[in-house]
Amino acid sequence: MKSTTEKFGNTPHLPSLWTRADALKVHADDPTTTQPLVSADFPVLSDKVFIWDTMPLRDIDGNITSVDGWSVIFTLTADRHPNDPQYLDENGNYDITRDWTDRHGRAKMYYWYSRTGKDWKLGGRVMAEGVSPTVREWAGTPILLNEQGEVDLYYTAVTPGATIVKVRGRVVTTEHGVSLVGFEKVKPLFEADGKMYQTEAQNAFWGFRDPWPFRDPKDGKLYMLFEGNVAGERGSHKVGKAEIGDVPPGYEDVGNSRFQTACVGIAVARDEDGDDWEMLPPLLTAVGVNDQTERPHFVFQDGKYYLFTISHTFTYGDGVTGPDGVYGFVADSLFGPYVPLNGSGLVLGNPSSQPFQTYSHCVMPNGLVTSFIDSVPTGEGGTQVRIGGTEAPTVGIKIKGQQTFVVAEYDYGYIPPMVDVTLK
Ligand code: FRU
Repeated sequence: MKSTTEKFGNTPHLPSLWTRADALKVHADDPTTTQPLVSADFPVLSDKVFIWDTMPLRDIDGNITSVDGWSVIFTLTADRHPNDPQYLDENGNYDITRDWTDRHGRAKMYYWYSRTGKDWKLGGRVMAEGVSPTVREWAGTPILLNEQGEVDLYYTAVTPGATIVKVRGRVVTTEHGVSLVGFEKVKPLFEADGKMYQTEAQNAFWGFRDPWPFRDPKDGKLYMLFEGNVAGERGSHKVGKAEIGDVPPGYEDVGNSRFQTACVGIAVARDEDGDDWEMLPPLLTAVGVNDQTERPHFVFQDGKYYLFTISHTFTYGDGVTGPDGVYGFVADSLFGPYVPLNGSGLVLGNPSSQPFQTYSHCVMPNGLVTSFIDSVPTGEGGTQVRIGGTEAPTVGIKIKGQQTFVVAEYDYGYIPPMVDVTLK
């Protein structure tokens, strides 16, 4: 198997590399890149459902959009089962941890609305049962298309397979609330190709998901980011000089990090409607560093491209580590080269005392970062945890050149609109 640079050598752009040397600069608990502690007495959005990945309604340029004064968010959602015998432990108590851990297998897309950008009211499921072609409705992006309220929801249809799909519907408002209508015909867009992006046949633990369409502010074309892994049989990837980077003596050993092959994928639309897509080589690869670069997204600021992606401690390769959280990279043009923000890439990580407090961060163009609460330690010595499945406090960051700084904390699930669209 070729190294990342050899593999994509003849393609229009070379992926930028997040190297092992970059990752050695990642340090948990730097206050400028660490999420403030989430208290264990957090409020819960709903005692009926868990929510996790949160996808604010936005326009194609990335601006968080309200409609007729109503904010709308989409969430991955699963029922809580406090009374289901399947989720009772040997003492007859609800095993919420197991229920929460199982949620990915029954994830469905729901929506919520609000007048205040917080205090979300549950709207319901986006698609009726049977509309989506697979069992799991995984993350993506809702885009408000026009003043008629049309919305394209791009998301991932998972199990069997993993396909990037879209479904079109409409947002309807009254003075009392919001409903989503339509969302009845799901259109498959593309799957991993096995040449640039790893397939299930090449690796049972492959990732191919989380579409984030956008219009390039410079060339005006329609593109889409997504999470992938670099193509090739599992275990066959090469962690060469380029992937290692400039490491100090004694740090050349890459261990088994050839199993870590995350990348941020990109596709370009062949049509204006975004129904026909061509996959391009990844923008960024993390071979030898990390196995997951999830929910990639952009903030366009100061003429630069700020690329953000979420990742975990457990997906790092041998000899490198970092907190669960959001990582970032910056370039002067869409196809790079990308440089890790803050030298390391780390933008907002969990504190080491509460390593799973939040996840699935989304950096919005106003510098606000939303995420969900996973689990927060409670009691003596933090031996117990309280499961979240709800919105975390929003964090404010300042993005300055190649650096970022945590500067503020806001209310739980605070996702204020940046533009309001009056529907016709
Ligand atoms: C991030 C994530 C996404 C995926 C979803 C599955 O939290 O792993 O990449 O779409 O959760 O539940």
